[in-house]
Amino acid sequence: MSYDVKALRTREFPWAERGESIYLDHASTGPIPMRTRDALAAFGLRRAEPFRLTPDDLYPVHAKAREACARLIGAKPSTIALMTNTSHGVNLAARSLPYGKGDVILSTHGEFPANVYPWIAAAHDRGAEFRLLPLAGDWPDEAALMRAIETDPRVKVVSLSWVSFWSGHRYDIAAIGAACRSRGIHFFVDAIQGLGPLALDVVAANVDVLACGAQKWLVSPWGVGFAYVREELIAKLEPAEVGWWAQATSGDYAKFLDYDARWADDARRFEVITLDFVGFNAMAESIGLLLETGPKAIEAHVTALADRALAFADDTPGVEFVTPREPSRRAGVLAFRTKDVAKSSDRLTAAKVAHSVRTGCIRLAPHFYNTADELDAALALLA
Ligand SMILES: Cc1ncc(COP(=O)(O)O)c(C=O)c1O
Repeated sequence: MSYDVKALRTREFPWAERGESIYLDHASTGPIPMRTRDALAAFGLRRAEPFRLTPDDLYPVHAKAREACARLIGAKPSTIALMTNTSHGVNLAARSLPYGKGDVILSTHGEFPANVYPWIAAAHDRGAEFRLLPLAGDWPDEAALMRAIETDPRVKVVSLSWVSFWSGHRYDIAAIGAACRSRGIHFFVDAIQGLGPLALDVVAANVDVLACGAQKWLVSPWGVGFAYVREELIAKLEPAEVGWWAQATSGDYAKFLDYDARWADDARRFEVITLDFVGFNAMAESIGLLLETGPKAIEAHVTALADRALAFADDTPGVEFVTPREPSRRAGVLAFRTKDVAKSSDRLTAAKVAHSVRTGCIRLAPHFYNTADELDAALALLA
Protein backbone atom coordinates (compact mmCIF):
# COMPACT_ATOMS: atom_id res chain seq x y z
CA MET A 1 0.00 0.00 0.00
CA SER A 2 2.16 2.81 -1.23
CA TYR A 3 2.48 5.32 -4.04
CA ASP A 4 5.23 7.09 -5.92
CA VAL A 5 5.83 10.17 -3.77
CA LYS A 6 8.39 11.64 -6.14
CA ALA A 7 6.04 11.38 -9.12
CA LEU A 8 3.25 12.92 -7.04
CA ARG A 9 5.49 15.82 -6.02
CA THR A 10 6.76 16.39 -9.53
CA ARG A 11 3.28 16.41 -10.99
CA GLU A 12 1.23 18.15 -8.33
CA PHE A 13 3.62 20.03 -6.02
CA PRO A 14 6.61 20.95 -8.20
CA TRP A 15 7.72 23.77 -5.87
CA ALA A 16 8.24 21.15 -3.14
CA GLU A 17 10.35 19.03 -5.46
CA ARG A 18 12.36 22.14 -6.37
CA GLY A 19 13.01 22.75 -2.64
CA GLU A 20 11.37 26.18 -2.49
CA SER A 21 9.84 25.32 0.86
CA ILE A 22 9.70 22.39 3.22
CA TYR A 23 6.02 22.78 3.73
CA LEU A 24 4.94 21.23 7.04
CA ASP A 25 2.04 23.52 7.90
CA HIS A 26 -0.97 21.60 6.61
CA ALA A 27 -2.67 22.06 9.97
CA SER A 28 -2.92 25.76 9.04
CA THR A 29 -3.35 25.99 5.27
CA GLY A 30 -2.90 23.32 2.61
CA PRO A 31 -1.23 23.99 -0.74
CA ILE A 32 -3.22 23.62 -3.96
CA PRO A 33 -2.13 20.81 -6.29
CA MET A 34 -1.39 21.59 -9.95
CA ARG A 35 -4.50 19.85 -11.27
CA THR A 36 -6.62 22.06 -9.02
CA ARG A 37 -4.69 25.18 -9.98
CA ASP A 38 -5.35 24.38 -13.63
CA ALA A 39 -9.03 23.85 -12.91
CA LEU A 40 -9.22 27.12 -10.97
CA ALA A 41 -7.56 29.03 -13.78
CA ALA A 42 -9.74 27.58 -16.54
CA PHE A 43 -13.00 27.93 -14.61
CA GLY A 44 -11.98 31.36 -13.30
CA LEU A 45 -11.62 32.60 -16.85
CA ARG A 46 -15.08 31.32 -17.78
CA ARG A 47 -16.49 32.90 -14.63
CA ALA A 48 -14.92 36.24 -15.56
CA GLU A 49 -16.77 36.12 -18.87
CA PRO A 50 -20.02 34.43 -17.82
CA PHE A 51 -21.37 34.08 -21.35
CA ARG A 52 -18.77 31.30 -21.61
CA LEU A 53 -20.33 29.33 -18.74
CA THR A 54 -22.38 26.24 -19.56
CA PRO A 55 -25.12 24.65 -17.42
CA ASP A 56 -22.55 22.01 -16.45
CA ASP A 57 -20.55 24.75 -14.71
CA LEU A 58 -23.28 25.27 -12.15
CA TYR A 59 -25.27 22.71 -10.13
CA PRO A 60 -23.56 19.61 -11.56
CA VAL A 61 -20.37 21.02 -10.02
CA HIS A 62 -21.95 20.99 -6.58
CA ALA A 63 -23.15 17.43 -7.18
CA LYS A 64 -19.60 16.43 -8.14
CA ALA A 65 -18.22 18.08 -4.99
CA ARG A 66 -20.77 16.30 -2.76
CA GLU A 67 -19.87 13.00 -4.41
CA ALA A 68 -16.16 13.53 -3.77
CA CYS A 69 -16.77 14.35 -0.08
CA ALA A 70 -19.08 11.37 0.26
CA ARG A 71 -16.54 8.96 -1.20
CA LEU A 72 -13.85 10.31 1.09
CA ILE A 73 -15.84 9.51 4.24
CA GLY A 74 -17.76 6.43 3.05
CA ALA A 75 -21.15 8.14 2.98
CA LYS A 76 -23.92 8.77 0.43
CA PRO A 77 -23.81 12.05 -1.52
CA SER A 78 -27.33 12.77 -0.24
CA THR A 79 -25.90 13.10 3.29
CA ILE A 80 -23.43 15.83 2.32
CA ALA A 81 -24.15 19.56 2.59
CA LEU A 82 -21.60 21.87 1.04
CA MET A 83 -20.45 24.57 3.46
CA THR A 84 -18.01 27.43 3.25
CA ASN A 85 -16.01 26.35 6.32
CA THR A 86 -16.01 24.10 9.39
CA SER A 87 -17.72 26.66 11.59
CA HIS A 88 -20.93 26.51 9.56
CA GLY A 89 -21.06 22.77 10.19
CA VAL A 90 -20.49 23.29 13.92
CA ASN A 91 -23.34 25.79 13.93
CA LEU A 92 -25.54 23.36 12.03
CA ALA A 93 -24.99 20.79 14.80
CA ALA A 94 -25.27 23.30 17.66
CA ARG A 95 -28.45 24.87 16.31
CA SER A 96 -30.25 21.86 14.85
CA LEU A 97 -29.54 18.87 17.12
CA PRO A 98 -32.23 18.23 19.73
CA TYR A 99 -31.37 19.21 23.31
CA GLY A 100 -32.90 21.64 25.73
CA LYS A 101 -32.97 23.21 29.14
CA GLY A 102 -30.76 21.43 31.65
CA ASP A 103 -29.22 19.10 29.08
CA VAL A 104 -25.45 18.78 28.75
CA ILE A 105 -23.31 19.13 25.65
CA LEU A 106 -20.07 17.39 26.48
CA SER A 107 -16.62 18.29 25.17
CA THR A 108 -13.11 18.67 26.53
CA HIS A 109 -10.63 21.46 27.12
CA GLY A 110 -8.06 21.98 24.40
CA GLU A 111 -10.66 22.20 21.63
CA PHE A 112 -10.17 24.71 18.83
CA PRO A 113 -12.45 27.75 19.42
CA ALA A 114 -14.46 26.99 16.26
CA ASN A 115 -15.86 24.01 18.15
CA VAL A 116 -16.45 25.97 21.36
CA TYR A 117 -18.06 29.35 20.72
CA PRO A 118 -21.02 28.09 18.64
CA TRP A 119 -21.88 25.64 21.44
CA ILE A 120 -21.57 28.32 24.15
CA ALA A 121 -23.94 30.53 22.19
CA ALA A 122 -26.46 27.78 21.36
CA ALA A 123 -26.38 26.33 24.89
CA HIS A 124 -27.00 29.78 26.32
CA ASP A 125 -30.02 30.29 24.07
CA ARG A 126 -31.54 26.93 25.06
CA GLY A 127 -30.66 26.93 28.75
CA ALA A 128 -28.35 23.95 28.28
CA GLU A 129 -24.90 23.41 29.78
CA PHE A 130 -21.81 23.26 27.57
CA ARG A 131 -19.32 21.28 29.65
CA LEU A 132 -15.59 21.10 28.93
CA LEU A 133 -13.93 18.21 30.78
CA PRO A 134 -10.37 18.97 31.98
CA LEU A 135 -7.35 17.61 30.16
CA ALA A 136 -5.22 14.89 31.74
CA GLY A 137 -1.79 16.33 30.97
CA ASP A 138 -1.67 17.33 27.31
CA TRP A 139 -4.45 15.03 26.16
CA PRO A 140 -8.16 14.68 26.80
CA ASP A 141 -9.17 12.30 29.56
CA GLU A 142 -11.05 9.77 27.43
CA ALA A 143 -11.87 7.57 30.42
CA ALA A 144 -13.62 10.50 32.12
CA LEU A 145 -15.40 11.30 28.86
CA MET A 146 -16.62 7.72 28.53
CA ARG A 147 -17.73 7.69 32.18
CA ALA A 148 -19.80 10.83 31.64
CA ILE A 149 -21.35 9.36 28.49
CA GLU A 150 -22.20 6.15 30.31
CA THR A 151 -23.42 7.57 33.61
CA ASP A 152 -24.74 11.11 33.19
CA PRO A 153 -28.30 11.03 31.82
CA ARG A 154 -28.17 14.79 31.18
CA VAL A 155 -25.59 14.34 28.40
CA LYS A 156 -27.46 14.71 25.10
CA VAL A 157 -24.66 15.71 22.73
CA VAL A 158 -20.94 14.93 22.56
CA SER A 159 -18.88 17.33 20.44
CA LEU A 160 -15.21 16.67 19.70
CA SER A 161 -12.45 17.41 17.25
CA TRP A 162 -11.27 14.11 15.79
CA VAL A 163 -7.66 15.32 15.97
CA SER A 164 -6.45 18.12 18.21
CA PHE A 165 -5.18 21.20 16.36
CA TRP A 166 -2.27 21.61 18.80
CA SER A 167 -1.33 18.31 20.49
CA GLY A 168 -2.27 16.07 17.57
CA HIS A 169 -4.21 13.76 19.92
CA ARG A 170 -6.70 11.62 18.00
CA TYR A 171 -9.90 10.43 19.66
CA ASP A 172 -11.09 6.88 19.18
CA ILE A 173 -14.24 8.15 17.49
CA ALA A 174 -15.51 4.65 16.72
CA ALA A 175 -15.56 3.76 20.43
CA ILE A 176 -17.07 7.10 21.43
CA GLY A 177 -19.60 6.94 18.58
CA ALA A 178 -20.72 3.45 19.64
CA ALA A 179 -21.09 4.55 23.28
CA CYS A 180 -23.12 7.60 22.22
CA ARG A 181 -25.34 5.66 19.84
CA SER A 182 -26.23 3.02 22.42
CA ARG A 183 -27.45 5.77 24.77
CA GLY A 184 -29.25 7.93 22.22
CA ILE A 185 -26.64 10.70 22.57
CA HIS A 186 -25.87 12.67 19.41
CA PHE A 187 -22.23 12.71 18.34
CA PHE A 188 -20.69 15.66 16.49
CA VAL A 189 -17.17 15.53 15.04
CA ASP A 190 -15.02 18.38 13.74
CA ALA A 191 -12.86 16.44 11.27
CA ILE A 192 -10.73 19.22 9.82
CA GLN A 193 -7.44 18.13 11.45
CA GLY A 194 -7.98 14.43 10.77
CA LEU A 195 -9.57 13.94 7.38
CA GLY A 196 -7.03 13.71 4.58
CA PRO A 197 -4.11 12.22 6.49
CA LEU A 198 -6.57 9.68 7.95
CA ALA A 199 -9.09 7.49 6.16
CA LEU A 200 -12.62 7.55 7.59
CA ASP A 201 -15.77 5.44 7.50
CA VAL A 202 -18.19 7.93 9.03
CA VAL A 203 -21.13 5.51 9.10
CA ALA A 204 -19.17 2.79 10.92
CA ALA A 205 -18.00 5.41 13.44
CA ASN A 206 -21.63 6.26 14.32
CA VAL A 207 -21.08 9.96 13.78
CA ASP A 208 -24.30 11.97 13.58
CA VAL A 209 -22.97 15.25 12.22
CA LEU A 210 -19.47 15.94 10.93
CA ALA A 211 -17.98 19.21 9.74
CA CYS A 212 -14.83 19.72 7.74
CA GLY A 213 -13.29 22.73 6.04
CA ALA A 214 -11.21 21.73 3.01
CA GLN A 215 -8.60 24.49 3.23
CA LYS A 216 -6.05 22.48 5.21
CA TRP A 217 -5.56 18.74 4.70
CA LEU A 218 -7.94 18.52 1.74
CA VAL A 219 -5.57 20.82 -0.17
CA SER A 220 -8.38 23.05 -1.41
CA PRO A 221 -9.01 26.79 -1.63
CA TRP A 222 -10.35 28.84 1.27
CA GLY A 223 -14.10 29.07 1.54
CA VAL A 224 -15.01 25.46 0.75
CA GLY A 225 -15.87 22.56 3.03
CA PHE A 226 -18.76 20.32 3.91
CA ALA A 227 -20.94 18.83 6.59
CA TYR A 228 -22.24 15.28 6.81
CA VAL A 229 -25.54 14.46 8.49
CA ARG A 230 -26.45 10.83 9.24
CA GLU A 231 -29.10 9.72 6.77
CA GLU A 232 -31.84 8.89 9.30
CA LEU A 233 -31.29 12.21 11.06
CA ILE A 234 -31.65 14.53 8.07
CA ALA A 235 -35.46 14.62 8.06
CA LYS A 236 -35.54 15.22 11.82
CA LEU A 237 -33.32 18.32 11.82
CA GLU A 238 -34.62 21.78 11.05
CA PRO A 239 -32.08 23.99 9.30
CA ALA A 240 -31.29 27.03 11.42
CA GLU A 241 -30.09 29.04 8.43
CA VAL A 242 -32.43 29.03 5.47
CA GLY A 243 -31.36 29.33 1.85
CA TRP A 244 -33.39 29.41 -1.34
CA TRP A 245 -32.02 26.19 -2.87
CA ALA A 246 -32.76 24.05 0.19
CA GLN A 247 -36.37 23.20 -0.61
CA ALA A 248 -37.85 20.15 -2.32
CA THR A 249 -38.87 22.19 -5.37
CA SER A 250 -35.62 24.17 -5.65
CA GLY A 251 -34.23 23.79 -9.13
CA ASP A 252 -37.61 24.20 -10.80
CA TYR A 253 -37.45 27.80 -11.98
CA ALA A 254 -41.17 27.71 -12.85
CA LYS A 255 -41.99 27.21 -9.16
CA PHE A 256 -39.87 29.98 -7.69
CA LEU A 257 -42.86 32.10 -6.78
CA ASP A 258 -44.81 29.24 -5.21
CA TYR A 259 -42.77 29.77 -2.02
CA ASP A 260 -43.17 26.10 -1.17
CA ALA A 261 -41.09 25.97 1.99
CA ARG A 262 -40.92 22.18 2.37
CA TRP A 263 -37.32 21.11 2.80
CA ALA A 264 -35.34 18.99 0.38
CA ASP A 265 -35.23 15.36 1.55
CA ASP A 266 -31.46 15.24 1.52
CA ALA A 267 -28.73 17.25 3.23
CA ARG A 268 -29.14 20.01 0.66
CA ARG A 269 -31.66 21.40 3.16
CA PHE A 270 -28.68 22.63 5.18
CA GLU A 271 -26.94 24.39 2.31
CA VAL A 272 -27.15 28.17 2.07
CA ILE A 273 -26.59 28.95 -1.53
CA THR A 274 -25.15 30.61 -3.76
CA LEU A 275 -21.97 28.65 -3.11
CA ASP A 276 -18.80 29.26 -5.09
CA PHE A 277 -18.92 26.97 -8.14
CA VAL A 278 -15.26 27.67 -8.97
CA GLY A 279 -14.17 26.82 -5.44
CA PHE A 280 -16.23 23.65 -5.10
CA ASN A 281 -15.05 22.46 -8.48
CA ALA A 282 -11.52 22.95 -7.17
CA MET A 283 -12.36 21.06 -3.99
CA ALA A 284 -13.65 18.13 -6.07
CA GLU A 285 -10.36 18.09 -8.00
CA SER A 286 -8.27 18.13 -4.83
CA ILE A 287 -10.30 15.45 -3.08
CA GLY A 288 -10.11 13.52 -6.35
CA LEU A 289 -6.33 13.53 -6.01
CA LEU A 290 -6.56 12.20 -2.44
CA LEU A 291 -8.97 9.47 -3.56
CA GLU A 292 -6.79 8.55 -6.52
CA THR A 293 -3.71 8.35 -4.28
CA GLY A 294 -5.69 6.25 -1.81
CA PRO A 295 -6.78 7.39 1.68
CA LYS A 296 -5.37 4.24 3.35
CA ALA A 297 -2.03 4.60 1.54
CA ILE A 298 -1.92 8.28 2.56
CA GLU A 299 -2.62 7.30 6.17
CA ALA A 300 0.23 4.78 6.07
CA HIS A 301 2.59 7.40 4.61
CA VAL A 302 1.73 10.08 7.19
CA THR A 303 1.89 7.54 10.03
CA ALA A 304 5.37 6.46 8.93
CA LEU A 305 6.50 10.10 8.95
CA ALA A 306 5.06 10.54 12.44
CA ASP A 307 6.82 7.35 13.62
CA ARG A 308 10.05 8.89 12.38
CA ALA A 309 9.43 12.09 14.32
CA LEU A 310 8.73 10.10 17.47
CA ALA A 311 11.95 8.08 17.07
CA PHE A 312 13.89 11.30 16.59
CA ALA A 313 12.43 12.87 19.74
CA ASP A 314 13.17 9.72 21.75
CA ASP A 315 16.81 9.92 20.68
CA THR A 316 17.20 13.66 21.15
CA PRO A 317 17.62 15.23 24.60
CA GLY A 318 15.61 18.43 24.97
CA VAL A 319 12.98 17.51 22.38
CA GLU A 320 9.68 16.24 23.79
CA PHE A 321 7.09 14.56 21.56
CA VAL A 322 3.81 15.98 22.89
CA THR A 323 1.62 14.00 20.48
CA PRO A 324 0.53 10.50 21.60
CA ARG A 325 3.07 7.75 20.89
CA GLU A 326 0.46 5.20 19.83
CA PRO A 327 -0.13 5.45 16.02
CA SER A 328 -3.88 4.93 16.41
CA ARG A 329 -3.94 8.05 18.62
CA ARG A 330 -2.34 10.50 16.23
CA ALA A 331 -2.58 11.73 12.64
CA GLY A 332 -0.54 14.40 10.81
CA VAL A 333 -0.37 17.03 13.56
CA LEU A 334 2.93 16.56 15.41
CA ALA A 335 3.70 18.71 18.45
CA PHE A 336 7.09 19.16 20.11
CA ARG A 337 8.38 21.00 23.15
CA THR A 338 11.97 22.09 22.81
CA LYS A 339 14.33 23.91 25.17
CA ASP A 340 13.51 27.19 23.47
CA VAL A 341 10.47 27.04 21.22
CA ALA A 342 10.93 30.57 19.88
CA LYS A 343 14.51 29.83 18.84
CA SER A 344 13.52 26.49 17.28
CA SER A 345 10.83 28.28 15.33
CA ASP A 346 13.30 30.94 14.14
CA ARG A 347 15.69 28.22 12.95
CA LEU A 348 12.89 26.46 11.06
CA THR A 349 11.78 29.71 9.43
CA ALA A 350 15.36 30.57 8.41
CA ALA A 351 15.60 27.15 6.75
CA LYS A 352 12.29 27.71 4.89
CA VAL A 353 10.45 25.10 6.93
CA ALA A 354 6.81 26.18 7.07
CA HIS A 355 5.46 25.26 10.51
CA SER A 356 3.52 26.89 13.32
CA VAL A 357 3.70 27.42 17.05
CA ARG A 358 0.58 26.48 19.00
CA THR A 359 0.02 26.33 22.76
CA GLY A 360 3.75 26.51 23.48
CA CYS A 361 4.66 23.73 21.04
CA ILE A 362 6.29 23.58 17.64
CA ARG A 363 3.72 22.08 15.27
CA LEU A 364 4.98 20.16 12.26
CA ALA A 365 2.20 18.85 10.07
CA PRO A 366 3.46 16.69 7.17
CA HIS A 367 1.11 15.39 4.48
CA PHE A 368 0.98 12.82 1.70
CA TYR A 369 3.61 14.37 -0.58
CA ASN A 370 6.20 15.19 2.10
CA THR A 371 9.33 13.05 2.18
CA ALA A 372 11.29 11.54 5.05
CA ASP A 373 14.23 13.74 4.00
CA GLU A 374 12.12 16.88 4.36
CA LEU A 375 10.92 15.83 7.79
CA ASP A 376 14.43 14.88 8.91
CA ALA A 377 15.74 18.28 7.84
CA ALA A 378 13.05 19.98 9.93
CA LEU A 379 13.55 17.71 12.95
CA ALA A 380 17.28 18.34 12.97
CA LEU A 381 16.52 22.03 13.55
CA LEU A 382 14.49 21.34 16.70
CA ALA A 383 17.42 20.04 18.70
C1 LIG B 1 -10.11 21.84 14.95
C2 LIG B 1 -10.36 23.00 14.05
N1 LIG B 1 -11.61 23.32 13.71
C3 LIG B 1 -11.88 24.34 12.87
C4 LIG B 1 -10.87 25.10 12.34
C5 LIG B 1 -11.17 26.19 11.37
O1 LIG B 1 -12.54 26.46 11.24
P1 LIG B 1 -13.09 27.16 9.91
O2 LIG B 1 -12.94 26.17 8.80
O3 LIG B 1 -14.50 27.47 10.24
O4 LIG B 1 -12.26 28.39 9.68
C6 LIG B 1 -9.54 24.82 12.67
C7 LIG B 1 -8.37 25.59 12.18
O5 LIG B 1 -8.34 26.69 11.76
C8 LIG B 1 -9.28 23.74 13.53
O6 LIG B 1 -8.03 23.40 13.85
